[in-house]
Amino acid sequence: MMSYAIIGASRGIGLEYVRQLATQPHTTVFAIVRSAAKSTTLEAATRGLHNVHILQADVADHKSLEDAAKQVSELTGGKLDCLIHNAARTEADSVFKGFDDFTSMDELDADFITSFRVNSLGVIHSISAFLPLLRAGPTKKIVVISTAGADLKTVLAIGKADMAAYGMTKAAALIATTKWAVKLQHEGFIVVSVSPGRIDDTGDTDHAVASQSNATILPKADPFAVMTLQESVSTQLRLIDRLKPSDNGLFLAHTGGEYRWEVTGQR
Ligand SMILES: NC(=O)c1ccc[n+]([C@@H]2O[C@H](COP(=O)([O-])OP(=O)(O)OC[C@H]3O[C@@H](n4cnc5c(N)ncnc54)[C@H](OP(=O)(O)O)[C@@H]3O)[C@@H](O)[C@H]2O)c1
Repeated sequence: MMSYAIIGASRGIGLEYVRQLATQPHTTVFAIVRSAAKSTTLEAATRGLHNVHILQADVADHKSLEDAAKQVSELTGGKLDCLIHNAARTEADSVFKGFDDFTSMDELDADFITSFRVNSLGVIHSISAFLPLLRAGPTKKIVVISTAGADLKTVLAIGKADMAAYGMTKAAALIATTKWAVKLQHEGFIVVSVSPGRIDDTGDTDHAVASQSNATILPKADPFAVMTLQESVSTQLRLIDRLKPSDNGLFLAHTGGEYRWEVTGQR
């Protein structure tokens, strides 16, 4: 039996992870959301599935993550195989802003600090909360969903000055993930960041990035294919299945290998 905890599972990539993992045999999935009552799409997608458990936690509130880990522990006998940290702050009224899109420096500071709490500290909080369970399990995999927007060469190549707090705080999450990888390597863990690739989620009205179509986000001469959410997540799951010790600490493309703009051209 393989057990997975998906943090930030209410919609988008996190929800698709839950959907696809739930269909795998001998798999238990813990879908962790900020509000179970508001996660109506997740609830509908998993209704009647006995291998999916919906739990609540906010990554900016470490106590809530510790409570969720305790509930997982009670259901698994104290173990977890794989933690997938997917949560990120994507609200449309914040995520697209550049440095000069704020009315004051106080407003900028407050917005960046909120993003840091969710996107950067949140990674530390969720790994810390689930670490005892992961240590007790045989698999010891931790996957943090990153973004090409955290990569310097991608930011330069696509000329992206906005999405500043998002990019900066996801970049901090990359370092946090690699720090965990270094810390846990001698215990047999594989800890990686993964770029999910370029997803066409236009039509997903819950999704802030989708509300600005790919045409406005990506460079005009972009030669790379856009995937569906389903394709991205199934490719990520194949990658997670075949993670190897030498991947520990790396920022990987969803297709495997280190994420590099020159090679993959993904966001
Ligand atoms: N979609 C893309 O094209 C793309 C590209 C590159 C990278 N990514 C990365 O992929 C991941 C998922 O993105 P997405 O596109 O699927 O975004 P999304 O649809 O906006 O989903 C974000 C998820 O994060 C959760 N979340 C936000 N703040 C949280 C908090 N404080 N505590 C717990 N959960 C929280 C949301 O829950 P609520 O429902 O409670 O808000 C939601 O489940 C993110 O890490 C993002 O950076 C996405």
